[in-house]
Amino acid sequence: MEGRSALSEIEGAVHVPSIEAATDARERDIERILIGEQEIQDKLRELGDQITRDYEGRELLLIGVLKGAFVMMADLSRHIRLPLEVDFMAVASYGAATKTSGVVRILKDLDHDLEGRDVLLIEDIVDSGLTLNYLLKNLRGRRPSSLEVCALLKKTGIQRVHLDVKYVGFEIPPDFVVGYGLDFAERFRNLPYVGLLKPEAYADI
Ligand code: IMP
Ligand code: MG
Repeated sequence: MEGRSALSEIEGAVHVPSIEAATDARERDIERILIGEQEIQDKLRELGDQITRDYEGRELLLIGVLKGAFVMMADLSRHIRLPLEVDFMAVASYGAATKTSGVVRILKDLDHDLEGRDVLLIEDIVDSGLTLNYLLKNLRGRRPSSLEVCALLKKTGIQRVHLDVKYVGFEIPPDFVVGYGLDFAERFRNLPYVGLLKPEAYADI
């Protein structure tokens, strides 16, 4: 039968993954999970509830700081039960891959005018705080009626400037982390959890 032989030819061509490839290739460089997928989702639900209460009767503008905030923005925004709009800004800090210099360059600016808006800035992580400090100054100059920050992670005790971050998901030790939007050399953003890299992963890249 013609049809049948054509099908078995296609089946024959299907790549059968080896047992090694069946393990999750994203995870090979991960030493340990710091904050698990479920823990993150529970926290975002909690933050979303709190934001919904705090902004009741108002319309929010969420601003995500690319690229790191794109995963959190997608999940958190669905837990905010208010009319809202989203916008994104892309920034790059000059300096080495794992350290920030505090000198920030805007790569992509907002589409929205902020004047009179209730703005909530979404950040993946507050490390030295220098990026956020720069951004807040810049955004304040555009005269929003309110401006607050929601960060998934805040490294404890290493901020070099005073910052008022109203919504914080987790306080973590000052180690370099990846996953859930956070990268090392642009990799690992698609991990559903936050983890620590194996030391040899830094040497590889
Ligand atoms: P800050 O200016 O030192 O607060 O850090 C700004 C940016 O550096 C963050 O938005 C992240 O993109 C990146 N960053 C800081 N710490 C980490 C980390 O532990 N893993 C991945 N990226 C980080
Ligand atoms: Mg980065």
